[in-house]
Amino acid sequence: MIRYWVNRVQCQWNSTYRFYSTSTLGGKNDYPSYQIHKPVMYREVLQRLKVQPGSIIVDCTFGLGGHTRNILESCKSCYVIAIDRDPEVFDLTKDLRKQYSDRLITLPGQFSQLGSLLRENRLNNLKISGILFDYGCSSYQIDSPHRGFSFKKELEGPLDMRMNSHSSSSLTAFQVINSFSESELRDIFYFLGEEKHTKMVTREILRIRQIAPIQTTSELVKIIESQIPYPAASKSISRIFRAIRMYVNDEIQEIEKGLKEAELVLEPNGHLVTISFHSIEDRIVKKFLQSTCTPSKFMDIDEYPQYPHDEFKPSFEIDEFPQPLLPTTEEIEWNSRSASAILRSAKRTSAPPLGQYLKD
Ligand SMILES: C[S@@+](CC[C@H](N)C(=O)[O-])C[C@H]1O[C@@H](n2cnc3c(N)ncnc32)[C@H](O)[C@@H]1O
Repeated sequence: MIRYWVNRVQCQWNSTYRFYSTSTLGGKNDYPSYQIHKPVMYREVLQRLKVQPGSIIVDCTFGLGGHTRNILESCKSCYVIAIDRDPEVFDLTKDLRKQYSDRLITLPGQFSQLGSLLRENRLNNLKISGILFDYGCSSYQIDSPHRGFSFKKELEGPLDMRMNSHSSSSLTAFQVINSFSESELRDIFYFLGEEKHTKMVTREILRIRQIAPIQTTSELVKIIESQIPYPAASKSISRIFRAIRMYVNDEIQEIEKGLKEAELVLEPNGHLVTISFHSIEDRIVKKFLQSTCTPSKFMDIDEYPQYPHDEFKPSFEIDEFPQPLLPTTEEIEWNSRSASAILRSAKRTSAPPLGQYLKD
């Protein structure tokens, strides 16, 4: 299992990046006040989803509904189907769901199952004109101590980190930290956290857990701090926490499958918009878009006799530049959590989907 993850991340290793910023999108005074979660790059998201009267948009990462609300408010006759794997968000967004009950459908579930979620709810015949992925955790999840996502002392909690904490069958951070082998932990920290100081930290985890199980986020932070001197420790703590979260929630696989599902579900001329928060997430999206926008460069048609044409046709095209798009300095001042956001977008063509031919 660990090997599988490592291979997936290694495959995405060799990418180059070109970043742009959208400095013309307005000043900080235009940013509305949100109670808990400030939606990241919300103007850019609206601009690239191209919402019109009658549009049906799937928000695959509903969270506290920041983007969903903006989409619904941007056009009085559009619709949103909103998905989230965290059952807690649906209670927290009761007011929003009530306010827009005629134009908003919420579905608990994982976006890797997008097609079947739509089928099970008899929504699969709808023409989907836009799909949004805003990856990672919401501020609510990070700031809730009982979820165990945060490494901050004042937010100490159990080592959990499941996005769906109601699922009794899923793996927790506690199980990873207290039962995985030294080499498994090192691989997770290195490949999913891009953390270099793995040897000392994993050895110390193994030593401490022989005395008693490591129970809380603060205990894990102390172990990392004891092995890595400051200032390097701060970055290592953040990387190791992110790596465990990604492993616990199977995030790489979710993103890869989610993109392929989006390709199947989007109607021709429909818009895909993604927001990533670190290079591993962004590499997956970038690789997917490179392959689907210029398939002949990345795939050999002779290997796929079942493809219905003589040559691969792009299933997406880039219709908006710059790519990728970064938040403005004004937005970063307004919401520091947007600082690492990377937005990409593309338009679905009418060509057959390519997801099934893409190599993992
Ligand atoms: C960054 S937050 C989204 C915030 C939201 N866009 C807003 O404006 O309030 C990411 C959300 O996606 C959810 N999520 C992450 N991975 C998911 C997956 N594979 N399937 C469904 N939901 C997922 C998380 O539970 C979290 O609520």
